[in-house]
Amino acid sequence: MSEIKRTWWKEMAVYQVWPRSFCDGNGDGIGDLKGVLSKLDYIKSLGVDAIWFSPLYKSPQADYGYDIADYRDIQPEYGTLEEFKTVLDEAHKRGLKVIMDLVVNHTSNQHEWFLESKKGKDNPYYDYYFWRKGKGNRRPNNWMSTFAGPAWEYDKEAGEYYLHLFAVEQPDLNMDNPKVREEVKDIMRYWLDMGVDGFREDVITFISKTEGLPSSPYWFPVATGMEHYMGGPHLDEYLQEFKDDVLSKYDCMTVGEAPMMTIKKALHHITEGPKQQLNMMFHFEHMAADCLFYSWFKAPFSLKKLKKVYTRWQKGLYGRAWNANYIENHDQPRIVNRYGSLKYREASAKMLATMYICQSGTPFIYQGQEIGMTNIRLNSIDDYVDVSTINNYGVAKAIMGKKKALELANYASRDNARTPVQWDDSKNAGFTTAEKPWFFINENYKEINVAAQENDENSILNYYRKLLKFRKENDIVIYGDYDEHFAESDKLFCYSRSLDGKRMLVACSFSETPFLFEAPKGFDLTKGTLAMSNYDIDALYGNGFCLQPYECRVYMFD
Ligand code: GLC
Ligand code: CA
Repeated sequence: MSEIKRTWWKEMAVYQVWPRSFCDGNGDGIGDLKGVLSKLDYIKSLGVDAIWFSPLYKSPQADYGYDIADYRDIQPEYGTLEEFKTVLDEAHKRGLKVIMDLVVNHTSNQHEWFLESKKGKDNPYYDYYFWRKGKGNRRPNNWMSTFAGPAWEYDKEAGEYYLHLFAVEQPDLNMDNPKVREEVKDIMRYWLDMGVDGFREDVITFISKTEGLPSSPYWFPVATGMEHYMGGPHLDEYLQEFKDDVLSKYDCMTVGEAPMMTIKKALHHITEGPKQQLNMMFHFEHMAADCLFYSWFKAPFSLKKLKKVYTRWQKGLYGRAWNANYIENHDQPRIVNRYGSLKYREASAKMLATMYICQSGTPFIYQGQEIGMTNIRLNSIDDYVDVSTINNYGVAKAIMGKKKALELANYASRDNARTPVQWDDSKNAGFTTAEKPWFFINENYKEINVAAQENDENSILNYYRKLLKFRKENDIVIYGDYDEHFAESDKLFCYSRSLDGKRMLVACSFSETPFLFEAPKGFDLTKGTLAMSNYDIDALYGNGFCLQPYECRVYMFD
């Protein structure tokens, strides 16, 4: 037996819903809880065990819900609290857990706390945020917002600047204030007591800032000052406090979102044992195989870079902590456009699914990923709606001109992941009965949609179902150890897993041209069974086979 501790959140697979674009139940063009309710059976049918909802809370939607105005209520466009409770109930009835997005690094500038805090030093909420006078006409420090532009906004009413690491409408909460931490804990209890099963904690590693908020000596586009808030001085303490005072009292799970996270730092927070603060961590390193840090600094795709990151995290965490595996979410362009191939869309979507779901960790699947949805091409910056896209475009335009900046937006924008889910080939892709959906629907919906893939045994959708079933039925896929093979190859990703004397071999092609695959030493393919594959052909040549474009195979050995 392996020494790994077995728990439900290690065995589950999670489906992420970005509510605005999931399904519109009342015909106003905007996704909502009624729509979610109508699709619970669909979600269950995928073989997942939990739903993570991107923010459903009351919000002016400056950052589509990540700017929260009321942590205890539902955005009216999405429905009511009663409707949420029904969704929660119905999900639980189907054996699906429900994970909420906990966004506490900042609030909306329309949150009551912020409106109060503006009133000045004597207001009890003043210290809920970071208000500073500035130096003459200069801002309090040189930090930049990660959405581009300075991280400080002058508020006329208050006569002071406030800190916002994200949009102007997202003032940062001052977590050093014990009252703010009490509020956070109350919010956690509120949802856990209602029955939710855990949290995805938004940019949680940003919540502690260096005392005195000093300027940074380093200039870094869109993140000057980050060394003063990424993994800040009291992060450990605050996470431990949330764990001890609230989370440890419930059978819940947490996954923290952590830009720029390294293994060493992650282990600090997620190593199993009494000092574990979070169950898992969403790091970003594997999302930078086609860019530097994030998609706006585009670079050619490098499989070697990707494999190095995966192998480091697989080996680094095994037996000590647990990986959270994802290749898409609401902040990332569609993966087929990035690491796969539009020409071999089906094969590459299935291969990419296999590549990450067969690794050790809890897999997260983003809405639309299971049918291989792709990026959208918009012809003008005015068509984009995401605040970070518009801000980043502004910076890009100044450097490279309009045309190139738009091309970059087409590639890098988060709006690529935010087009409505393509349910069928009827008007508006079956997303809404309204004349006009809230955002553009990808023109390819007639070809790429759920209904068409339901009817096709070999569709990407049905492949995801088989893959998740395969994972669930085989402990080795969940708990097995990981080893990489042929690390030097720039077109093959090959790894094996092992558990209790069993072994599993995964071979993934990242190439548009076929090539010969020879099994690594110690694996006799003639003695293995082919468990998963995305092509019809399964012929062996000796102890190998010819890998077709973006082909993947999983062999099991007893
Ligand atoms: C996280 C969210 C992203 C949001 C940002 C600010 O990165 O995933 O969508 O814009 O935090 O809350
Ligand atoms: Ca609606």
